[in-house]
Amino acid sequence: MATILKTDDQAVRSAASALAEGKLVAIPTETVYGLAADATNGDAVAGIFEAKGRPHFNPLICHVSDIDMAERYAVIDPLSRRLMQAFWPGPLTLVLPLKPDTAIHPLVAAGLDTIALRMPRGVAGRIIAALGHPLAAPSANTSGKISGTSAEAVNEDLGARINLILDAGPSEVGLESTIVKVDGTCVALLRPGGLAAEDIESVTGTRLERIDQRAAIEAPGMMASHYAPSARVRLNVHDVREGEVLLAFGPSRAQKAEKNASATLNLSETGNLREAAANLFDFMKRLDRLKRPVIAVEPIPFDGLGEAINDRLVRAAAPRDAAIAEMDEIK
Ligand code: TXA
Ligand code: MG
Repeated sequence: MATILKTDDQAVRSAASALAEGKLVAIPTETVYGLAADATNGDAVAGIFEAKGRPHFNPLICHVSDIDMAERYAVIDPLSRRLMQAFWPGPLTLVLPLKPDTAIHPLVAAGLDTIALRMPRGVAGRIIAALGHPLAAPSANTSGKISGTSAEAVNEDLGARINLILDAGPSEVGLESTIVKVDGTCVALLRPGGLAAEDIESVTGTRLERIDQRAAIEAPGMMASHYAPSARVRLNVHDVREGEVLLAFGPSRAQKAEKNASATLNLSETGNLREAAANLFDFMKRLDRLKRPVIAVEPIPFDGLGEAINDRLVRAAAPRDAAIAEMDEIK
């Protein structure tokens, strides 16, 4: 079981230093407890999916300590800023364009060019400030289970897989944050949550656009074709054809790889699935930028994070018009 610490100054320091070392820490927020990792550390972020046993990589909410920190990573339009000023810290998440070349690891946004940001209330903000980096944190529960709203619940569910839980008592709101996305003067509700729509409408002066969840799926990047690079993707290859670029895994087994591949990136030379998960989106983009017609991908085993890696690769290889809605992912 994990160590549970009451949230005093010492606990804040312990949490920040564990996070700086790339460890996962369960932290209290006003909505639900979060399973947090340093958002700039891809290996640590991959660890979140591993600990939750999540079969897909969905984009994670990134938690900041203040608006200045948000500004470092995202482009903030005037209306989003007004919402931040009105409701932060609090249970409101804003989806914003990600600034290019920031330190946030691409796995946090699941390779999207937007990022979901929120500033939580309570001790989480102090931990983020002490670390100096944002925290990627989905709810602290294994995939498919109910979100943890107390340190005891988190310990029961995840205690065997994490070392440290900070305890600030039961979560005040008990429901995940409300997620919105501003487009000019229009504000779309992507996920109802702990902040009432009416409260948001009282600031914006307009009704929230309640997009049909299916239509909204594109926003969280759940459309099958969203992950499709411009190149065609050929999966489970054992032979590389001339002119293809190769996404390898492990000690490369593909025949004629060296001779035929015009470029090769290896997700993990040693066959480590956590390392492969952390490299996946970045390497896909890098290979796609070479503008070759085909990205050939070696087989990736299905155990552990391999299931989520294969899920994303299948989406990348999907025909452009195949919009497979995954409703469980937008909860
Ligand atoms: O209350 C909360 O928000 C909790 C606590 C721990 O802060 N966190 C939480 O995080 O629920 P998470 O990572 O589980 O939320 C993920 C959801 C995704 O399923 C997706 O709907 C949305 O946030 N999301 C994240 N990034 C997005 C993006 N770039 N575009 C659209 N939606 C995004
Ligand atoms: Mg959850």
